[in-house]
Amino acid sequence: MPALPTSLPTPSLPSPTLPGAHLNLPRKPLRVVLITCSDAGHRERLSRSLTGLRWQVIEARGGADAWAESEKAKQLEVLLVDPWLPDLDISEFLADFHREKPTVALMFTDGSAVKDSPRSPYHQELLYALRHSQESDTVAWQASRLVEMVPDAPTGLSPLDVVQQKANGETSEKEDARSAAGTVSAVPAGEEQRRAQITERRVSPVDRIPELIGFSGPMLEVSRRIRLVAARLTPVLIEGPTGSGKELVAEALHRLSSRSKKAFVAINCAAIPEALLEAELFGHTRGAFTGAVQGRIGRIESADGGTLFLDEIGEMPLALQSKLLRFVESGELQRIGDNDTVKVDVRILAATHQRLAEHAQKGAFRSDLYYRLAVFLIRTPALSEHLEDLPVLIEHFLERMGRTAPVKRLDAKALDRLRNHDWPGNVRELEHVLERAAILAGDEPVIGEQEVDFGLLPPN
Ligand SMILES: Nc1ncnc2c1ncn2[C@@H]1O[C@H](COP(=O)(O)OP(=O)(O)OP(=O)(O)O)[C@@H](O)[C@H]1O
Ligand SMILES: [Mg+2]
Repeated sequence: MPALPTSLPTPSLPSPTLPGAHLNLPRKPLRVVLITCSDAGHRERLSRSLTGLRWQVIEARGGADAWAESEKAKQLEVLLVDPWLPDLDISEFLADFHREKPTVALMFTDGSAVKDSPRSPYHQELLYALRHSQESDTVAWQASRLVEMVPDAPTGLSPLDVVQQKANGETSEKEDARSAAGTVSAVPAGEEQRRAQITERRVSPVDRIPELIGFSGPMLEVSRRIRLVAARLTPVLIEGPTGSGKELVAEALHRLSSRSKKAFVAINCAAIPEALLEAELFGHTRGAFTGAVQGRIGRIESADGGTLFLDEIGEMPLALQSKLLRFVESGELQRIGDNDTVKVDVRILAATHQRLAEHAQKGAFRSDLYYRLAVFLIRTPALSEHLEDLPVLIEHFLERMGRTAPVKRLDAKALDRLRNHDWPGNVRELEHVLERAAILAGDEPVIGEQEVDFGLLPPN
């Protein structure tokens, strides 16, 4: 277990491990703290420490629970929250919580404060209680959680911290990290600043997009570009290999736009036979062609007011590209068999696994359409280009599977196998490999290398 710092921040405080009733405590009013953490043991230790310091403790096991409890709690002073919630995205949860309850101090259970939230006047006391709770087996819990997954990672930091530090180009000296784990108050020089950077990244509005897991340079660049362009009407072309998150990016662009309450309509140009694609996109009148017994509006019209996502745009037949170009330029379309034009207001996003510019140069794709669609380009990287995100992605998928079954972990050899794979199917392949491994592991809580099966066929 990592050594804990020996100096106490506030030596005059009573021991929080003893129940307050048996202590000669100063007559302070009860202050209310809401502890949000999925681990019952961790919650209980924190609760005991804080009760001893005359805090009124409310407990919640996840984000939704915390919202419900905070509605009931009068004069909530502090929210003490684990950096990982089982049900909600932590960044979004904190941003929403801060917006709804701006006077509540927000603090992570590792002692770091959440950026922009007010600091509790009892901050030191909270740190003291946190440290005492860690003196039981919290540190062991945190460390074991990480060490099983990333054997050479410093103890006491979550995988997110570790990867974030690496992304910041920082060294991860074990001693520093150890004191940070036990710490909370007596932090080594520079550590506080580092933690500030980490927490700032987690909740700042220019932070990564929560659903896009990864803190590597290429992934943060994807998030940055999404945030820059989401609110605009600008067409966006998303380029990247299969399984690298293009659809995730398109959905995020829609969610972060003012059109988020309107439709998000996706059409996969490669999945629909050429003969049907035109009618599917533009709609048709009754009797427009054999079999058209009823008139139907197309996908473009059904996205009116919202976002139209043209997936695998590189597969669109050239003839249809001309018709699409006319729509993109004029915002008007004609249903097949109709002479009238209809005005439609959509924001266009397109995606491709090809290098569309090269196709346009070769004449395989209309270059005028290319320039219309690729006003702004977002490139989703292959997983092999951001392997440093592997631990957080693994953690994300294992935790997500843990919603329906007990969370499993990887042993060191299994992790090595994943690290040494070249991931032609990218994040989707990782998701499937982990799911397969979790099934193969049966009731075992730890996944071994024999369960890591990449399959014989390339994914998808
Ligand atoms: N950075 C990421 N974080 C979390 N999940 C991811 C990430 N990238 C991809 N995924 C997941 O991987 C899977 C594939 O992603 P997505 O469908 O967006 O890929 P794609 O680039 O559109 O693939 P294709 O070209 O095959 O259509 C999805 O389940 C998605 O949630
Ligand atoms: Mg896709």
